[in-house]
Amino acid sequence: MIKKCLFPVAGYGTRFLPATKSMPKEMLPIVNKPLVQYGVEESLEAGLNEIGFVTGRGKRAIADHFDVSYELEHQIAGTSKEEYLSSIRSVMARGSFSFTRQSEMRGLGDAILNGKRLIGDEPFGVVLSDDLCVSDGDTPGVLAQMVSLYRQFRCSIVAIQEVPEDQISKFGVIAGSQIKADLVQVSNMVEKPDPKDAPSNLAVIGRYILTPDIFDILEKTPPGKNGEIQLTDALLTQAQTGCVLAYKFKGRRFDCGSVEGFVEATNYVYHNIYKG
Ligand code: G1P
Repeated sequence: MIKKCLFPVAGYGTRFLPATKSMPKEMLPIVNKPLVQYGVEESLEAGLNEIGFVTGRGKRAIADHFDVSYELEHQIAGTSKEEYLSSIRSVMARGSFSFTRQSEMRGLGDAILNGKRLIGDEPFGVVLSDDLCVSDGDTPGVLAQMVSLYRQFRCSIVAIQEVPEDQISKFGVIAGSQIKADLVQVSNMVEKPDPKDAPSNLAVIGRYILTPDIFDILEKTPPGKNGEIQLTDALLTQAQTGCVLAYKFKGRRFDCGSVEGFVEATNYVYHNIYKG
């Protein structure tokens, strides 16, 4: 079964400068929790307990966040403040955390390829922590939904949602044949197309289940959009030679890579989760 989940976290976060000058964008808090912890909690909920980070320079705060802080633990042990550490303590108890570095920013595909040494030859999840996903009530998280689909179909799966035309050029966009109301077998996939060239309005959001043959494909994938090695291009090859499914997930996604989406997520989490 799937045990591992990869978090590419090497990006600069330029849209949040100067906040991200010396702090990883993944550590920006949504209310009282860093963005990346939401993604890690989603992964643990899905049973993916072996977390691998593909980091870069200036990202040490992420490794420190998922490690014990002896001084802090010592200071607040036995005080009423201890409860504030409960969520991260629970995450640390349930997960294991490994790190590798991407030394050059050559795109998402390259980041995933760098993760090969953490993943090996097994299927794995990918979370782009900029995309904060929440689901209502008893509905499991997006990654958990995708893991149960994987059990059934045993092939790579991307999460999708419909987006308005003016948003299309921000995403990988898919097209294919409908298998079920919420499931499409992918036959085409384009990274950040002009709206006029887009194959549909179905945009890939930052949750993936990938089968390990993706690594061999990525090794042979030439630079694409913006001169970067694109996961989208490798997935298209996988779709053409095997099978890739696109799943219209249940839940909401916030684009925390943009200031507007970040503020929207903050308001949502404050009112619906933090205040509960
Ligand atoms: C990446 C992927 C893109 C996907 C998006 C989801 O782009 O390349 O295909 O639609 O994540 O958030 P990025 O937003 O990192 O530029």
